[in-house]
Amino acid sequence: MSESKYDLGMIGLGVMGRNLVLNMADHKFSVVGFDKDMKKVDALEKEAGERDVKGARSLQEFISSLNKPRAVMMLVPAGAPVDAVIKEILPHLESGDLIIDGGNSHYVDTNRHEKELSPKGIHFLGVGISGGEKGARFGPSMMPGGAKEAYATVKPIFEAVAAKVNGDPCVTYLGPGSAGHYVKSVHNGIEYALIELISETYNIFKRGLGLSNDELHQIYKKWNEGLLESFLIEITEKIFLQPTDDAKSRLIDLIKDQAKQKGTGKWTSQDAMELQVPVPLIDLAVDMRDMTGYKKERVDAAKILKGPDAKLSEDKEKLIGKMESALYFAMITAYAQGMALLRKASDEYKYNLDPEAIARIWRGGCIIRARLLEDIRQAFTRKADLPNLMVDQKFAGDLNKRQDDVRSIIQLAVKAGIPVPGFMAALSYFDSYRSEWLPANLIQAQRDFFGSHTYERIDKEGVFHTEWGK
Ligand code: 6PG
Repeated sequence: MSESKYDLGMIGLGVMGRNLVLNMADHKFSVVGFDKDMKKVDALEKEAGERDVKGARSLQEFISSLNKPRAVMMLVPAGAPVDAVIKEILPHLESGDLIIDGGNSHYVDTNRHEKELSPKGIHFLGVGISGGEKGARFGPSMMPGGAKEAYATVKPIFEAVAAKVNGDPCVTYLGPGSAGHYVKSVHNGIEYALIELISETYNIFKRGLGLSNDELHQIYKKWNEGLLESFLIEITEKIFLQPTDDAKSRLIDLIKDQAKQKGTGKWTSQDAMELQVPVPLIDLAVDMRDMTGYKKERVDAAKILKGPDAKLSEDKEKLIGKMESALYFAMITAYAQGMALLRKASDEYKYNLDPEAIARIWRGGCIIRARLLEDIRQAFTRKADLPNLMVDQKFAGDLNKRQDDVRSIIQLAVKAGIPVPGFMAALSYFDSYRSEWLPANLIQAQRDFFGSHTYERIDKEGVFHTEWGK
């Protein structure tokens, strides 16, 4: 009996893998899935029903079910599990086959995998996938990188399953090597920044104004109908309504104020530091996740370190309006920092990234999707080599107009003793980037004073050293 062959094989049938398989099958691609946990294989087959999906019970069965050249995708946790899967499947593959890592892998690992596999004739794609469980099932944003010819073989599948915005699939080939995973990492850095900013608005509303969860729900709901329309605002609005299972209270009030992280935001900050691209809002967002982890120390410190009582006596409606404007301002700077990092990384790592294409595929499916991204796409259509999103005509106008709102929100928060480091980082980024002059002459002088590090002058060319104080 001749076995029927499958278009693609998926290793790792957790939430993301299983849902992506079902999404592919809905678009008439045949998929075979494998997982070491047989319960997950059974669950996939059960859920797939009549679809052209098979659950393999062994790696041999999985490999022999695939059409040649084989396309094997894996959705397993980043790091050691990816290494382990590659090691295990490699002996079963042959030249011309393709391995796709669809997880949140660190771009350095992706480079290493490509380098190891390429001499064996095995193609490798590193694909960032965003959108969580629902995205995987009904349309994620996909960020593929690797050899262009290899991408061409799976392009029809990816374009079919990706989210669509005005008919455009939220996936496109981004560049060679680790381009896809790098872009996904920066996506997550921006995600961290947006999440931090939204949490700061919540702090002001909750502690400063003492608003209820119902009032909070109303604010974010309204915001989501305006210029802040985005996935993260939409889920925030819903979070405030969620009751506990016993319906006695709201779930949000019973959740610990300690946030976890899997590392992608940190990688973005680390690499930005390496490339010397300032991304203070992303750095700060990672810092604040870390700060939340110091719960015990914060509880102890709260008894020792004193500040204002966090109460604001502002007019509620006025403050909500200012906050909306300030958040829009800060969101722009978050995307601007991410895009600036991508611009430098593209040069440094020879990714040849197209910022317009990145903004285009982020408009739908992913966690940072927002109405704003269509404007960002248009800004890069007007000028692909824009040095910073903030100097685009439209965004410059927005930032200039709204800066007073950010200044005012920060002043209020500072007076009330409510931390708003994200908003401060956003405004400082804006204020320093627009500074024709920064006090770095003093920094140069100090370095030369204590370490003979030399300095440059504005009135003549060359490198100078002075015997200071003599
Ligand atoms: C996405 C997300 C996702 C990420 C989670 C958790 O784009 O779908 O970025 O890939 O894993 O958001 O990230 P942290 O655990 O680092 O917060």
